[in-house]
Amino acid sequence: MKLWGGRFTKPTNELVDEYTASIFFDKKLAKYDIQGSLAHVAMLKECEIIPAEDADLIAEGLKKVAAKIESGVAELSAENEDIHMNVEKLLIEEIGPVGGKLHTGRSRNDQVALDMRLYLREALVDLMDLLVKLQESLTNQAKQNLDTVMPGYTHLQRAQPVLFGHHMMAYAFMFQRDIERLIDSYKRVNKSPLGAGALAGTTFPIDRMYVAERLGFDGICENSLDAVSDRDFVVEFLANASLVSTHLSRLCEEIVQWSSAEFNFIELDDAFSTGSSMMPQKKNPDVAELVRGKTGRVYGHLIGMLTTLKGLPLAYNKDMQEDKEGMFDTVETLKGALALFAPMMETMEVKKESMYNAVRQDFSNATDLADYLVEKGMPFRESHAVVGQAVLYCINHNKYLLDMSLEEFQTFSNLVEEDIFAKLTPETVVNARNVAGGTAKNRVEEQIDTITNLLNDS
Ligand code: ARG
Repeated sequence: MKLWGGRFTKPTNELVDEYTASIFFDKKLAKYDIQGSLAHVAMLKECEIIPAEDADLIAEGLKKVAAKIESGVAELSAENEDIHMNVEKLLIEEIGPVGGKLHTGRSRNDQVALDMRLYLREALVDLMDLLVKLQESLTNQAKQNLDTVMPGYTHLQRAQPVLFGHHMMAYAFMFQRDIERLIDSYKRVNKSPLGAGALAGTTFPIDRMYVAERLGFDGICENSLDAVSDRDFVVEFLANASLVSTHLSRLCEEIVQWSSAEFNFIELDDAFSTGSSMMPQKKNPDVAELVRGKTGRVYGHLIGMLTTLKGLPLAYNKDMQEDKEGMFDTVETLKGALALFAPMMETMEVKKESMYNAVRQDFSNATDLADYLVEKGMPFRESHAVVGQAVLYCINHNKYLLDMSLEEFQTFSNLVEEDIFAKLTPETVVNARNVAGGTAKNRVEEQIDTITNLLNDS
């Protein structure tokens, strides 16, 4: 007999049971469901809605059910549809009909919203911890690469040299904003919907704040219709997770490029690389590729959830059961990626020489030659054109700016003097960008300090 079987005259079609059940995936919520029920039953006792002895029996029974589910001996069935009704059924099996008092003043609609929030609260903390670890490994790489000059790109064309440490810190700041977004979202997750009932509240003299405080919530959802209909917090999480994935996948793409023979800027540790079944020489950056690839499913879950909610009337609709798998999968996908990323970044070998040679063999110091002429009084627009000519000359003569003699420089402008050679070396060019946030060594050190201080506070 179904928990809601009273008004029915026939058993449910088996296919309907299978199709409408969520137990296959919401069993992940068992721990939170029972945590919520324990708080609810404590409140029913406190408010004298059910007798104290019954409440105590229920609480004990719930703990036994929790242990049985955890050890895998409890049988969870599609016939009982979801985790909420499976737990209630198991409780009644455990302690008899008195178990049926647990659901007093409560609906699965406020219950499921509660479970989702309890689950996400924990997941947010875990994800923030993992993001902090990733920031630490990026910062460590940055510290070890404060003298490593690499080509900086725009349009994937060599633009101006930057420190590899500067590049690492760019990602550390992206992940900082991701952490801040998760922190900010936490306060919207951390509200208790319990007490909203099915949609309109309850006739029992419950104490919503008691439950909220017991479960560590900051307060309660203030409108019962909103409490059971709101999945904004899921959408917000998926959107924030999408940005984390965006940032990760950009870093992935760079790792894939950098580890190619064409770039040859880094080598991933053997422990974080994979081989080919056919080509003996291969060493592939599979982790970076797969993290990049999994971005698709995270974005998919965001669009899926938004689409599910679009146009849904208030209050609860069964459509909303679709909120779970995407959220769970996103949490697990990100956890998996982040757990690998920190050690992969930490153990990656940075090929300083190779990066330096790349900078030495490009025109990324051209802006500095133009700036040099400006310092000598030439208008920038004019110096831009003059340097363009010099670059063209070098390309035609198969050389780089620093390969020219003073006489050659002077054919483009007689403002050029002997000091030009020191001005155009990769180190000088980098350290000349001594503006707040710039790539000069001391500026990158400032950026490392900023992130390190934030990490120490967290
Ligand atoms: N399994 C349902 C879900 O995940 C729980 C809420 C069901 N409520 C209902 N009135 N059918 O959304």
